[in-house]
Amino acid sequence: MNRRTLLTGSAAIATVATAAAATPAFAAQPNGAFRLDAPRGREGIFRRLPSLDVQSNQEFLTDIRAFAQGGRGNMTQVARMRVRELLKEAGYGARAELPMDEVIALVENDPTVMASARLWLSNQQLTWKGVKDLFDANMDQCLTELDAAESVGPGSLELNPSLDIPDYAKHEIHIMPGGYVGDPLGGFIYHYGTVNFFLGHNKQDENQIGVANAAPIPKNGKVRRILEIGCSVGQMTTALKRRFPDAEVWGLDVGGPMVHYAHMRTADLGMDVNYRQALAEDTGFPDDYFDMVVSYIILHEIPNSENTKIMKEVSRVLRGGGIYYPVDFYTSFEPPKDAFGKFRRWWDHRWNGEPWALEHMDYDLAGDLTAVGMSVDKEGAGAVLYNTGASRGRPNLVAVKA
Ligand SMILES: C[S@@+](CC[C@H](N)C(=O)[O-])C[C@H]1O[C@@H](n2cnc3c(N)ncnc32)[C@H](O)[C@@H]1O
Repeated sequence: MNRRTLLTGSAAIATVATAAAATPAFAAQPNGAFRLDAPRGREGIFRRLPSLDVQSNQEFLTDIRAFAQGGRGNMTQVARMRVRELLKEAGYGARAELPMDEVIALVENDPTVMASARLWLSNQQLTWKGVKDLFDANMDQCLTELDAAESVGPGSLELNPSLDIPDYAKHEIHIMPGGYVGDPLGGFIYHYGTVNFFLGHNKQDENQIGVANAAPIPKNGKVRRILEIGCSVGQMTTALKRRFPDAEVWGLDVGGPMVHYAHMRTADLGMDVNYRQALAEDTGFPDDYFDMVVSYIILHEIPNSENTKIMKEVSRVLRGGGIYYPVDFYTSFEPPKDAFGKFRRWWDHRWNGEPWALEHMDYDLAGDLTAVGMSVDKEGAGAVLYNTGASRGRPNLVAVKA
């Protein structure tokens, strides 16, 4: 068995266009039963998990997540209402802006709020465990396929096993086992585990396509080279290539397991995208090389001091008139000031392995970009995102190199 049979059962390397005709996950038998050993196939460009059992479990967990964190009428709404009651009981108005320590003291031991938070966290833990156990059980095949894809084109892969990885990049961010750098199967785990995070809206790279398509282009219309920093498994890097098929497109990530998997997946899709394992603060590209740099949800996972260095590097590798388009928690929203919003940030930081989630609330991205010679428009083009619903189309920060 190789990775293709493991993940798809299909021998063909499909392009995005041909992949749209999905292979059925399992074949119906004349008596109406399902043949569980039939090829698992694709759903569009998404290769189904090799086990129907694990897939069912993951889909159940995704539904639970939607219930735990979605919009009105779910557990989040119940918790939000309960925080209002707690504020009232303590003599505050519903919109009172309390310091973080007071918010925590007010909320931390409330059974209703904590039941909501616990449901969310247990769901997250079970999601990671489900996919990790599955890929660990098939580790040999996964590693063999990763290695075999290394030299498959048309794109390139630059791994750097001697990269000096800073401690801050070794954390198990959002409690993903092994984090981005510590498990050779990290790319598999991240890709399939984040289906839960994105509530299913990254199976066809929808969120990443939403960002890639929203990115503004330089005034002179020239887009020859594009870089995504913090590319993980390359879902936005490939989305950028789809939008700009003639451009030289690079995805860069500190995680070797991330770019390794990104390259394998991109080769499977038959796309010409390049990946490099490197730090966003020291990319190794020449000055003025790129017309556009894009990043999606990496800044909040990095200490502010390192983000300051990254902005310097972004400015260095962009040519004059080049665009930086970062999409992150506070590039289209202000950090929360209300008690419930602050509690959620604290919970994410304390229990979901987000060491810099709190300091990121104070990160002056616009200030750092201005300091390195970029002009900043805080009301720039907004991306269409699906996982939160709330950030659809809101104006997002855009920076242009002078
Ligand atoms: C949440 S993921 C990004 C998701 C991805 N952009 C997408 O479209 O789905 C954050 C990524 O940033 C990477 N990262 C964190 N710090 C980095 C750094 N200093 N340099 C390069 N990559 C970094 C992590 O390894 C991780 O893969």
